[in-house]
Amino acid sequence: MYIKTLKLSNFRNYKSARLEFSPYTNVIYGNNAQGKTNILEAVYLFSQGRSHRARSDRELIRFGEGFAKLDIEFSDERRDHFGQMQILKNGRKAVSVNHVHIVKLSALMNYLNVVMFSPEDLDLVKGSPGVRRRFIDSSISQLYPSYLSSLIDYNKALNQKNSLLKLLRARGAASDPTLDIWNEQLAEHGARIMRARLEFSELIETAAKKIQAEISREQLGIKYVPSIKTDEMTAQAVLEKLKEYERREIDAASSLHGIQRDDIEIYVNEREARLFGSQGQQRTAALSLKIAQADYIKEVKGEYPVLLLDDIMSELDINRRMYLAERIRDKQVLITSTDTDLIDKATETKLFRIENGMVVE
Ligand SMILES: Nc1ncnc2c1ncn2[C@@H]1O[C@H](COP(=O)(O)OP(=O)(O)OP(=O)(O)O)[C@@H](O)[C@H]1O
Ligand SMILES: [Mg+2]
Repeated sequence: MYIKTLKLSNFRNYKSARLEFSPYTNVIYGNNAQGKTNILEAVYLFSQGRSHRARSDRELIRFGEGFAKLDIEFSDERRDHFGQMQILKNGRKAVSVNHVHIVKLSALMNYLNVVMFSPEDLDLVKGSPGVRRRFIDSSISQLYPSYLSSLIDYNKALNQKNSLLKLLRARGAASDPTLDIWNEQLAEHGARIMRARLEFSELIETAAKKIQAEISREQLGIKYVPSIKTDEMTAQAVLEKLKEYERREIDAASSLHGIQRDDIEIYVNEREARLFGSQGQQRTAALSLKIAQADYIKEVKGEYPVLLLDDIMSELDINRRMYLAERIRDKQVLITSTDTDLIDKATETKLFRIENGMVVE
């Protein structure tokens, strides 16, 4: 799939801009703070329904303006699509695709898929388990909306359960029938999520392992480590465990076990990369995971996602740059950089120079 045009109105530091992309490599270059990442952010927003970095959508509206607007034209193997988004001052977004209003923004992922690469990807390996859970959740949710609904329902039940646990401890109560209801819901959604996470980890391991070996001859391993250990990951088995933890959870007034505490361990040459990996090994592992995620989307959807590379070329050594260049050659990529020399420019490459919120070349 590829993006044909993007029009920005009052988005970030753009008053008005229109970009016509190549279906292959697009290099968005310019000095710092000119608006390069803002372009990737707009594309990401239209795929994921939210920005990869703004805390509030209001930040996306150009200072002093009332609303921002995006128009995007993109194509997949079946047809052309036309998407529109308006971001209003009250933080609301009005979105349509092919002139049909989109109610749930997560539905945007059914149309446009992207994978963003940024220097922060290193956190996938180095950071806390939460970063890896988000990676796994967003990878699966992009393709399976029912996974996202399970996550949302799980989190609702978890909040309710945590409030109840606080109440029970305050009252000095030993148990409560309502606690069983929340545990049943958590077990049902939790088991489903665990099975999906396990399956995804195994798929992504196979793919990422191959990529890592091609880049560096290192052996990559990915292991899903669920917080609740059961053999079959059925709702029944998870529920039994939750019942075992009940006493301790009331004492602690919080949920001690569940998918909110899962981790995905990443190994390089059989040692945990977070603890023992060199910077280079960690970076390669993060890159391998991201490329594997893009391949996974292609596998399931039959369409390769648009790749957004935010300033990562300067972080990679020549071997990794060449490997990446080879892997993305026939795909659409939007690359930001302050230095165009780092980018392999094939004939189809299109360059955009950005200056102070304007596309000047
Ligand atoms: N809501 C907004 N209205 C106007 N300008 C904004 C808004 N939000 C951010 N900016 C401006 O956008 C610019 C940053 O844009 P962006 O992050 O795209 O820069 P960049 O070209 O990627 O820079 P770098 O090379 O440092 O990553 C800053 O000058 C910032 O002040
Ligand atoms: Mg930037």
